Amino acid sequence: MSSTTTTDLAGIPEMPEVPQHLVKPVAPVVGRVHATRLCTKSRKASGFIRHVEIDVSGTALENSWTAGQSFGVIPAGQTPEGKSHKLRLYSIAAPTGGETGDGTIITTTVKRLVDEHWDSHKLVQGVCSNYLCDLNVGDQIQLTGPVGKRFLLPKDPSKHDYMFIATGTGIAPFRGMILDLIKQGMPSRVAMLMGTPYETDLLYDDTLQAWQDEYENFSYHTAISRHTTTDQPRPLYVQDRLSEDADTLQPMLASERTLIYICGLAGMELGVFQTLARILPPEQLAQYLTVSDELLADVDNWERSMIPKQLKKTKRVFLEVY
Ligand SMILES: Cc1cc2nc3c(=O)[nH]c(=O)nc-3n(C[C@H](O)[C@H](O)[C@H](O)COP(=O)(O)OP(=O)(O)OC[C@H]3O[C@@H](n4cnc5c(N)ncnc54)[C@H](O)[C@@H]3O)c2cc1C
Ligand SMILES: NC(=O)c1ccc[n+]([C@@H]2O[C@H](COP(=O)([O-])OP(=O)(O)OC[C@H]3O[C@@H](n4cnc5c(N)ncnc54)[C@H](OP(=O)(O)O)[C@@H]3O)[C@@H](O)[C@H]2O)c1
Repeated sequence: MSSTTTTDLAGIPEMPEVPQHLVKPVAPVVGRVHATRLCTKSRKASGFIRHVEIDVSGTALENSWTAGQSFGVIPAGQTPEGKSHKLRLYSIAAPTGGETGDGTIITTTVKRLVDEHWDSHKLVQGVCSNYLCDLNVGDQIQLTGPVGKRFLLPKDPSKHDYMFIATGTGIAPFRGMILDLIKQGMPSRVAMLMGTPYETDLLYDDTLQAWQDEYENFSYHTAISRHTTTDQPRPLYVQDRLSEDADTLQPMLASERTLIYICGLAGMELGVFQTLARILPPEQLAQYLTVSDELLADVDNWERSMIPKQLKKTKRVFLEVY
């Protein structure tokens, strides 16, 4: 018979209420590109990923968002069927007051979707990601939003510590949240775990390294999945950092202050949950995941379809994966 591990759940954050959908797709606002640059560690990265800043001054989006939310982009042009393109969402990479602090500059981190078609082997170029990456400074862009009410820092961020876990462009909301914490004097411990295929693909790497040097309570942990480096002698997925860097990370996980945020590739949460189940004693695991003893004994065979019914995250875990 299965029993469910239950423990009093401490450290549940009080979350803020934030406005959403102030600008709807039927009446988008027009912003202007303020800056655009590659934000991979090297120009020779395996993908093209841009940091795109957009000026939304004078629109309903000005001063309207909180770090962690997303905004919508409606690409110019039409589909081959002659219809308007549908909206795509992009995580806001800016802090709550925007890049300049006055709520006018919203940012995202966008990866060009470029691939071969699975069946026809013709070139596939994602409509909106390439549209966004092609834009130049001064170009106009139709925007909606903000969107999202859960993937946010708590009302009083200083009451918690943060384990931010990202793959690829999943770093975007964390850049904004960390900048918000820095604005408040970095009152919390923050561990940023970042996974990319190659070292060249690390995003905002110089900035993250600089924060690690500057803030004693900020640590940066990279996981490179397709090659090794001197610091990292075997390929790693981001969740492997939880055990590899246990000296820093396990005391954080044991603390009642710690919240876990996961953003990036759909499916990455499964590996994170499995690793937590392998490395944490049951009473600590229960702070993050509710799972039966039976399933806990079978952690190697967990599947994503077990989330959220059999593997249920607690209110100390925040997930945004697409
Ligand atoms: C809340 C949220 C936040 C997001 N934040 C970000 C972000 O910060 N940065 C970011 O870069 N993205 C982000 N995304 C993803 C983003 O919304 C878009 O989905 C992404 O940019 C691709 O859009 P596109 O218009 O370029 O591609 P589309 O033109 O929409 O093409 C994508 C489609 O192409 C198909 N496809 C892909 N490859 C192939 C292939 N080889 N053969 C056949 N079909 C294929 C896929 O099935 C998919 O349906 C986010 C998504 C969500 C939901
Ligand atoms: N708010 C949001 O929800 C949000 C925001 C931004 C981005 N996103 C999504 O995040 C994704 C980012 O993709 P990307 O192309 O930028 O990433 P990427 O550069 O390809 O990096 C992804 C990394 O994660 C690794 N990985 C693959 N499967 C994994 C798994 N199950 N668990 C842990 N790590 C895994 C990859 O390893 P290998 O490839 O070597 O196996 C690679 O190292 C996109 O799908 C985007 O839509 C969502």
